[in-house]
Amino acid sequence: MVELLPSILSADFAHLADEVAAAERGGGTVIHVDVMDGHFVPNITLGPPVVKSLRKATSLPLDCHLMIDNPNEYIPAFADAGANWIGVHYETCPHLHRTIELIHNHGMKAGVVLNPATRVELILDILPMLHHVLIMSVNPGFGGQKFIPFSLEKIRKLAQIRKDLGLRFRIEVDGGVAHDTIAQVVQAGADLLVAGNAVFGDGNAERNAQELLAAAKKVAGEAS
Ligand code: DX5
Ligand code: ZN
Repeated sequence: MVELLPSILSADFAHLADEVAAAERGGGTVIHVDVMDGHFVPNITLGPPVVKSLRKATSLPLDCHLMIDNPNEYIPAFADAGANWIGVHYETCPHLHRTIELIHNHGMKAGVVLNPATRVELILDILPMLHHVLIMSVNPGFGGQKFIPFSLEKIRKLAQIRKDLGLRFRIEVDGGVAHDTIAQVVQAGADLLVAGNAVFGDGNAERNAQELLAAAKKVAGEAS
């Protein structure tokens, strides 16, 4: 089943609860929360206190995408704040197995995120432990960037690996997912579709979410 994950990075931070509610009315089923530290990526966003507030504002799962160095240090705080899914970058985790276990031990679902230049084969051994793999289709740090076309090949490769190994992890895609790219990413095999600018960019999150989800479901052959 394809799902739309509105990314609040492009929302109006002064009205987060309203923005999230609008995206939910439009069919968003998981809220994607971009955590940036100004070290791993050249931007700073938010941390556990905002996640804690979001937790009170919605009952949807919160998918925290950690674009931070030393994620192990902060995983307990995100769990306490009410995060449900944690995605850690392969590039930030020298002891990835330990980090995944840490996420699980805090009662959350674990995902691994791959930058555009990181090959999917690098995480083969860890795939059975994962709830999701997130393919970055832009270099992380900012919303509203252009989709990198070779991400499609990575999604296709990962979908084939999932099939060959008989695994059930979800395939998430993040970056430049919009009206002009959503059909291709679904066709390639992604089922968790993150969209920031395309949902919140023009202040009409409900309608945008509805249209994106309808387009995705059409390609996936699912009823909307
Ligand atoms: C980028 C973030 C994304 C961002 C996507 O570093 O990880 O989640 O919000 O934004 P769009 O959909 O605008 O490319
Ligand atoms: Zn993200």
